[in-house]
Amino acid sequence: MTGIVVTGGSSGIGRAIAIRLAEDASRQNSANSAQVLVHYRRNRDGAVETAEQIKRLGVCCEIMAADLSRPDEVHRFAKDAIERLGVISTWVNNAGVDVLTGEAASWSFDEKLRMLLDVDVCGTIALSRIIGPVMADQAKPGDVTPSMVFIGWDQAPVGMEGDAGMMFGPVKAAVMAFANSLAQTLAPHVRVNTVAPGWIQTAWGETTSAYWNERAKTQALMNRWGRPEDIAEAVAYLASPNAGFVTGQTINVNGGWNRKFEGRHDDSL
Ligand SMILES: NC(=O)c1ccc[n+]([C@@H]2O[C@H](COP(=O)([O-])OP(=O)(O)OC[C@H]3O[C@@H](n4cnc5c(N)ncnc54)[C@H](OP(=O)(O)O)[C@@H]3O)[C@@H](O)[C@H]2O)c1
Repeated sequence: MTGIVVTGGSSGIGRAIAIRLAEDASRQNSANSAQVLVHYRRNRDGAVETAEQIKRLGVCCEIMAADLSRPDEVHRFAKDAIERLGVISTWVNNAGVDVLTGEAASWSFDEKLRMLLDVDVCGTIALSRIIGPVMADQAKPGDVTPSMVFIGWDQAPVGMEGDAGMMFGPVKAAVMAFANSLAQTLAPHVRVNTVAPGWIQTAWGETTSAYWNERAKTQALMNRWGRPEDIAEAVAYLASPNAGFVTGQTINVNGGWNRKFEGRHDDSL
């Protein structure tokens, strides 16, 4: 049995990733020997829905709850996941706090930043520092190299104006920097990479203002919102043996950043 784990798989990008990885397991005829573990925090119904879609592909799936802002829960989740799955082939660190919708939207800047640091940065790092070495120990010469994938943000290294840029920027930059160092630490036993999404239409994108709806579309050369499935496709590549020589890399999946000047084009240059 080889295990696939996706944190934050109860909705949005995490759900699409879990289903996409299960499709690969199903296609490779490894359905009987693969098991997907879908992690969630509060949205049990969402996690059950993800698991049902995975089981319909003929792949075993379980769900497991853990609040990654709590160090005791991080340790308990890591231990339970290892016990439940045995060998872990793919681990995707996708869980992240939504501070743009729901009750968290009314929190102060400091409260949002603190929670993002606790979950996205400290929770993700603590979890990966337990799981990464276990995956490295389990790796056997000649076998497919296990893969760990992180989710960053395309604008984190360059910056974005306003509160969202000033909180998500440093948080996701920290995640991306940690992933690069983990790749150096675990090589050649585990491949570690990052997918950096652009504007992906999940809960916030579905209800956002006309301004942000327009901005999200026009900032992509492809002139549309990204879909969770766009991110899942890149994660599936990084998790697959096709990416066997790819580690310590970040793939921006943002439809291509639009750098075209919106005004009149001047042909004199
Ligand atoms: N959407 C975008 O445009 C975009 C762009 C760049 C990066 N990202 C990143 O992509 C990832 C997925 O985002 P999404 O848009 O799909 O958001 P989402 O639908 O809100 O999913 C977030 C997931 O993280 C889990 N989570 C939240 N707080 C948690 C906690 N304290 N402990 C453990 N898990 C927790 C949620 O679990 P429950 O709901 O079950 O509580 C949920 O499964 C996030 O890391 C996000 O920062 C998104």
